[in-house]
Amino acid sequence: MKVIKVKNYDELSKVAADIIADLLKENPKATLGLATGSSPIGLYQNLIKKYEKGEISFKDVKTYNLDEYCELPKSHPESYYSFMHRNLFSHVDIKEENVHIPCSEGSDLEKLCKEYNDLLHKASIDLQLLGIGANGHIGFNEPNTSFEQETFVVKLTEKTRKDNQRFFNSLDEVPTHAMTMGIKNIMQAKKILLVASGANKQDAVKKLLSGEVTESFPASVLNNHPDVTVIVDEEAAKLLND
Ligand code: F6R
Repeated sequence: MKVIKVKNYDELSKVAADIIADLLKENPKATLGLATGSSPIGLYQNLIKKYEKGEISFKDVKTYNLDEYCELPKSHPESYYSFMHRNLFSHVDIKEENVHIPCSEGSDLEKLCKEYNDLLHKASIDLQLLGIGANGHIGFNEPNTSFEQETFVVKLTEKTRKDNQRFFNSLDEVPTHAMTMGIKNIMQAKKILLVASGANKQDAVKKLLSGEVTESFPASVLNNHPDVTVIVDEEAAKLLND
């Protein structure tokens, strides 16, 4: 696992965007696995700037998002569909048909999971971007999810719902379930880029980099992947010994 330590969120966002931009320059038809949440917003802003300067294009890029809330219509401002369009897709030249976000609107969630999983089996993700939950979740794979798990509907833990409450008016409004790529899908990406910023990620970063692999801490599976880069800022890296 390669660890890049940076000063703060701004630098993390620049370094992460450079890694993705370099990949797109080398392979303009790359397939990206994308994440939502606070961690990638700055890096998406940097990618938009690079697009505006003509340094990169998304014309032939395909994307697959990690997860989506159940119970929220796509049009809800906090759906991950809205998030991705607001923070990246509406500002670049990506084709809507190349955007894939799990669809969890509908009564037959099992069928929708299978459809997304089948798409992932056909796709070959060149780079998967990840944030990390304070409890070690990646995507919405909560502690004790099997490392063999593929796309599924997950009941969110109270911790994760509380962490995400800041995007809603109250805890009651935070969805209770989400559809997420499983850990097995995430591990199939050729490269993984994980970004962690801020003091509330200190414990998670320390556990991730301890090297211990356990299903009780989902992100620890990344220690078994051959090509992972972790970018951490000073706050998130505070508990690491240099
Ligand atoms: C988002 C996702 C989640 C987040 C994680 C960290 O698509 O899959 O695993 O990456 O919850 O969220 P932030 O970045 O908001 O701290």
